[in-house]
Amino acid sequence: MHQRVLTGITTTGTLHLGNFVGAIRPAIAASREPGVDSFFFMADYHALIKCDDPDRIERSRLQIAATWLAAGLDTERVVFYRQSDIPEIPELCWLLTCVTSKGQMNRAHAYKASVDANNAAGEDPDAGVTMGLYCYPILMAADILMFNAHRVPVGKDQIQHIEMARDVATRFNHLFGRGEDFFVLPEAQVDETMELLPGLDGRKMSKSYDNVVPLFEGGEKALREAIARIVTDSKLPGEPKEPEGTPLVAIYDAFATAEERAAFRAALRGGLAWGEAKQQLFEQINRQIGPMRARYEALMAHPEEIEAILQKGAARARALAGPTLARLRQAVGLRPFQALATPATTQTKAKAALPVFKQYREADGQFYFKLSSHDGRVLLQSQGFAGGREAGEWVKRLKLEGAAALAGAPVALGEGVQADEVGQALTTLQQADS
Ligand code: TRP
Repeated sequence: MHQRVLTGITTTGTLHLGNFVGAIRPAIAASREPGVDSFFFMADYHALIKCDDPDRIERSRLQIAATWLAAGLDTERVVFYRQSDIPEIPELCWLLTCVTSKGQMNRAHAYKASVDANNAAGEDPDAGVTMGLYCYPILMAADILMFNAHRVPVGKDQIQHIEMARDVATRFNHLFGRGEDFFVLPEAQVDETMELLPGLDGRKMSKSYDNVVPLFEGGEKALREAIARIVTDSKLPGEPKEPEGTPLVAIYDAFATAEERAAFRAALRGGLAWGEAKQQLFEQINRQIGPMRARYEALMAHPEEIEAILQKGAARARALAGPTLARLRQAVGLRPFQALATPATTQTKAKAALPVFKQYREADGQFYFKLSSHDGRVLLQSQGFAGGREAGEWVKRLKLEGAAALAGAPVALGEGVQADEVGQALTTLQQADS
């Protein structure tokens, strides 16, 4: 079977040379491998989580789409689309949301980072945290699971999200699969070299460090200017220079063959001026991305062409997503109405036939719990407790120890209920739990 590889880019800004070397170029190369079905998309719903400037959203998704196309993405081979053109994705997101535990989302790095920052600043822990940010990993799981991707090329910071997608998929399969697995469990594919391209100052190239070399924006001029700002030591022309470990050489390497790399190093050791080295670097990069930039500019002048390509991509994606979602709706019970296979009162699932504990608070301000049989009769009724925790402790004990805990428990039997029936109900619960 073909391996499905899927990745998305959040559309909040423009792309830089690091994105090209780390994500776009390898993704396009991988999409040409035989036996691989690739899915690339603009994560524009994710963008809304980070950005509330409509013009910026509009600009960024157009620019990023044009960038992928200009860089040589073959949209005949690759399914290329905007997340927001696929309504099946938010629908799946909701189905997944309903089986995702809140506790797991509490542990998501991005959310935790916001909480930590708030705590450090003495703010409310959730200040400025939207539900979009909180549920970000579930939307990402929907992106991946919608197309049953096997591999997801991402940066290190996204590994936890892929693990969460696996957890949610496992849970959904377990709850609704009945022996059939709906979802493939995706694997993160982290390419170490993806993280490596340094920026102008030697730290990882990143917008947040303001050390980026723009990819296409600003044209040749912006490329030349950025390269001029690469940090070097102050060795003079003619002095031998140590190439290893300099950002200039690392960036050069990303665009050069083995022979070119060796020659560049030799020239620097032989005294090549930094200014001249920067000129060579500019030419080296521009030779490769210049033709792409020309395509980029042509595409940006004809957004309707990009729109048409993306509409086609959306149609292909939806042809896959639609039937998958129909099966999932069926699985969770969102089905066209028909005569019920079993009478509404007798539930087929063993789980539904179990007795249940309920905890609640009454108007008197006290906390209570009760145990009801599967058909809704009250088997046990607790006394009132001042705190919810105490009521909870008793429920826990009764569940754990069963009938043995009944003797000292502050509970009364329901009307007309025999102790035997309660004992049995507790045993049933114990067994169902183990
Ligand atoms: N969260 C990813 C990022 O910020 C973007 C993204 C959204 C994504 N959905 C995805 C990546 C699905 C891979 C698969 O980089």
